Amino acid sequence: MFQLDSHPSGRHFLQIPGPTNVPDRVLLAMGRPTIDHRGPEFARLTLEILDGLRPVFQTEGPVVIYPASGTGAWEAALVNTLSPGDRVLMFETGQFATLWRALAEKLGLVVEFVPGDWRSGVDAAQVEARLAEDRAQAFKAVLVVHNETSTGVTSGIPAIRQAIDRAGHPALLMVDTISSLGSIDYRHAEWGVDVTVAGSQKGLMLPPGLSFNAVSDKALAASRQARLPRAYWRWDEIIAANRQGYFPSTPATNLLYGLHEALAMLREEGLQAVFARHQRHAEATRRAVRGWGLEVLCRNPDEYSGALTAVLMPEGHDADAFRREVLARFDMSLGTGLGRLAGRVFRIGHLGYFNDLMLCGTLCGVEMGLAQSAVPHARNGVAEALAFLQESGESTATTAQKRAA
Ligand SMILES: Cc1ncc(COP(=O)(O)O)c(C=O)c1O
Repeated sequence: MFQLDSHPSGRHFLQIPGPTNVPDRVLLAMGRPTIDHRGPEFARLTLEILDGLRPVFQTEGPVVIYPASGTGAWEAALVNTLSPGDRVLMFETGQFATLWRALAEKLGLVVEFVPGDWRSGVDAAQVEARLAEDRAQAFKAVLVVHNETSTGVTSGIPAIRQAIDRAGHPALLMVDTISSLGSIDYRHAEWGVDVTVAGSQKGLMLPPGLSFNAVSDKALAASRQARLPRAYWRWDEIIAANRQGYFPSTPATNLLYGLHEALAMLREEGLQAVFARHQRHAEATRRAVRGWGLEVLCRNPDEYSGALTAVLMPEGHDADAFRREVLARFDMSLGTGLGRLAGRVFRIGHLGYFNDLMLCGTLCGVEMGLAQSAVPHARNGVAEALAFLQESGESTATTAQKRAA
């Protein structure tokens, strides 16, 4: 029999890179009674949510909400814009790029998958070179994962946009922001993205179950010509119903209550402050990793992720055995190595609803777990992180302090 209270006393530390810790405010909002999704209160809820979502994607255009995990929004982006046999250009940044590719192929798209080392982001020069060679303009879309959750590597979207423009190529640009939206600066409109794919369970601080497509005018125009079969995922029917605050099918009412509350929390903190908080916690985490004498998986400092840090295990040590020890001894979940990184890395999620002391607890759990598992390391990680948090803390007064000032 499944029991959720199997954890010992105190809060479980959910430090995987999503789903993330859900704030009590959001949990309480979701606990309200379910209402009629065809009634007047519901329409107000939807319209307020759509207004609140656009600034998070940094767009004025439509944002489509699905009751689905992120995979559903991946599929929606493709079936709304493309036709059977269309060619798309993708980059092997890690496990999630690999899974999106597999999904595209299952839909009947032809994917050119540029190989990668799972330690680097998308190389904009390669984007430009590949598109410049494509004189027939056979590629209909470039698909990129902004923050590769399997590796902790963030690709530079503005540079990719510029590469597409320099090649003079009309391909759509689609970006997966499932583990970056609401954590790492991301600008759908300014960066000329055509479809942004997002999910609820990471920077948006909600449980899994909602996902999103933000859509440009060019993508909307493409959707009028696209011939891949689509029914449930159709943007046009959802956007039309949304104008009055409704959905064509039954929406996830209580998750939407949670989303309304989470958007209020992001607004209260301010998006720029949210991004700065994530960058600071990421830097503290990397200092801890170096203090332990371990290696951050991401090769290029320009591509360090603000949302998570993947840490390479020393040769001969199993990252999953270490993770099991940390869970059993300290009641903390760390992210597992995915795909070809299985057993070789563990991932520290430092995104979403998170603060300095939660990070301190997380890093203490890792440091104690390394000792407990007899992984060779120096005991300097926590000390390095604390010193950085202290010295960089001046500029990060809490909301309450700022209000009082
Ligand atoms: C970057 C990225 N893309 C796609 C997905 C797939 O989303 P889901 O598991 O919600 O279907 C994930 C899940 O963690 C992800 O991190």
